[in-house]
Amino acid sequence: MKETITQVAEQIKSKIGDRQPKIGIILGSGLGGMAETIENPVVIPYEEIEGFPRSTVSGHAGRLVVGKLNGVDVLCMQGRVHFYEGHSPAALALVIRAYKKLGIEKLILTNASGSLNVDMGPGSLMIISDHINLSGCNPLIGPNDETVGPRFPDMTYAYDAELRAKLLETAEKEGINMRSGVYLMTSGPNFETPAEIRMFRILGADAVGMSTVSETLCGVHCGMKVVGVSVITNYGAGMVSNKQTHAETIAQANEAGKKLQRILTRFVKEI
Ligand code: HPA
Repeated sequence: MKETITQVAEQIKSKIGDRQPKIGIILGSGLGGMAETIENPVVIPYEEIEGFPRSTVSGHAGRLVVGKLNGVDVLCMQGRVHFYEGHSPAALALVIRAYKKLGIEKLILTNASGSLNVDMGPGSLMIISDHINLSGCNPLIGPNDETVGPRFPDMTYAYDAELRAKLLETAEKEGINMRSGVYLMTSGPNFETPAEIRMFRILGADAVGMSTVSETLCGVHCGMKVVGVSVITNYGAGMVSNKQTHAETIAQANEAGKKLQRILTRFVKEI
């Protein structure tokens, strides 16, 4: 990777003027609509940032939107980048580290995911309490820069307890039910087999998806506070009789995403 963390951060900085967001938000599949509610935005397509990976998935716009959400400065990634698109672990790490360099202290991660839990159906919102990395990838692999973070970062408290409690409280104030659970990441891009889903349930996971964990690892490594939410769009393969489709993921995410939008709009003001 030619561009350094500093070079990427400086390119973004030069475009956002005097805005100084401390909160970063990454919007998952079908959840990009929230970026449209950001006021006075500076919109930066990823391709205008030298060294930034491109988003290639439908349902992921591929741009940074920096502005005010409910009066609070935020940097919002409308469309994330995934391992399954062929991006290197280093490319994913670069993005998060550039945000840190820009001054982002808190990272709000959202995703669409499949439920592994029979009583958490499509449309549910799950606060990620912990994760299992079964992606086969880790963005922290490679030489470690101690000025960014430690070689062996602790993941005991990967998802910040205070932020999680505050998020739950915010949802309650909005009258919306949220669950907590363990998120398991696969590399994708295929949906799982029923046998894999049975295994993941035995392993103690509540939701499965193809993202987020990599961003959490990088965020925690460089000292950010991380909070994550899964929008449950379907049951895991084999738990019900229908097949898995990306179209269904997007449709369900759009619906439940509206609830999540209400919660997060309020949440950014409370943290
Ligand atoms: N599996 C993996 N990723 C997903 C799913 C799923 O069932 N639903 C939405 N993203």
